[in-house]
Amino acid sequence: MAALRCEELNRPPVWLMRQAGRYLPEYRAMKETNTFVEMAHSPELAAEVTLQPLRRFPLDAAIIFSDILVVPEAMGQAYAFSDKGGIEMAFNVRDREGLRRLETDGAVQRLDYVGQALRRVRAEMGLDKALLGFCGSPWTLAAYMVEGGKPGALQQIREMFYRDRELFDALLEKVTGVCVEYVQMQAEAGADAVQIFDSWAGLCPLEIYEEASLKWIRKIIAAAAGRVPVILYAKGMGEHLGALAGTGAQVLSLDWLVSLRGARESLPSHLAVQGNLDPALLLGSVEITRSATLGLLDSMRGTRGHIFNLGHGLQPGTGVENVAALVEAVTGWRA
Ligand code: CP3
Repeated sequence: MAALRCEELNRPPVWLMRQAGRYLPEYRAMKETNTFVEMAHSPELAAEVTLQPLRRFPLDAAIIFSDILVVPEAMGQAYAFSDKGGIEMAFNVRDREGLRRLETDGAVQRLDYVGQALRRVRAEMGLDKALLGFCGSPWTLAAYMVEGGKPGALQQIREMFYRDRELFDALLEKVTGVCVEYVQMQAEAGADAVQIFDSWAGLCPLEIYEEASLKWIRKIIAAAAGRVPVILYAKGMGEHLGALAGTGAQVLSLDWLVSLRGARESLPSHLAVQGNLDPALLLGSVEITRSATLGLLDSMRGTRGHIFNLGHGLQPGTGVENVAALVEAVTGWRA
């Protein structure tokens, strides 16, 4: 991963996740004639969407265009995004019958289109840039699988954990098994690193976070060890970085609620930090975006092991000119 070697760049490397962003006109144009799921399933279209930000901005890395929900889909629980926004799951997993409907055999083979998309991007993007694969954490995936499209307060999955721990563990075991193979497959297909998104970590009661989420994340990281570095993003866990630091991940990706400098100083030096500009800043003026970006960079001056990123994905309505200002500020900054 040449691009992520901070010493050579003399500045932090930078990449961005758009997620619900839809900020690029060329992406929106493709959405006119294809649904999200169609684009994700097509290695050719997914590769094209992945490369779009790199064609516009001098970013150091790209994340493969896909979604965390391709894993439940490959297990037989289809998903869609409604035109009005929001996620629709084909059914909810609430009982043993729901669990039985999930097929783990062959799930990774059914995700082969992601591997093909990674190979295409890897062949096109050049070796000076990094390509990231990803998957959802088992807890976060299970939240969608149990709650459906609107996870809300995670009432149902918390209830399942307390009422029927056997069912909860069996579900997480199934999902984790697929994630383990999926991450290995992405490494083989050319991913330079994989990011695990525990986007719903902050809604997991702290006293069960180890058993409900971290324990399963650790299994994925252990299976990735020696094959591909892991970036762990656990949203809302800024007060508990110590717990995340012991998972074996090489990078902790932080949301915008924590002091990045404080996190850097409290974490062991072998762990890199990624983050953590507030994505809402990019909805303000270009000047605000530029000064906040420089402010974050300056706050990290003299430290090592920082990957510049947002604290979450780009928001819908983000201006392309704000993204340009951010990237220009990072690439022009010197340590
Ligand atoms: O930056 C990228 O485009 C990389 C690919 C990517 C997407 N989703 C594409 C996407 C990645 C890395 C994700 C991860 C993802 N998906 C997460 C983890 C990261 C996070 O945000 O916490 C989660 C929780 C999901 C599930 C998901 N997918 C949500 C909540 C949404 C928004 C739904 C809505 O309608 O508001 C999506 C949709 C989605 N995933 C879009 C993209 C580009 C927008 C789809 C569209 O164009 O309509």
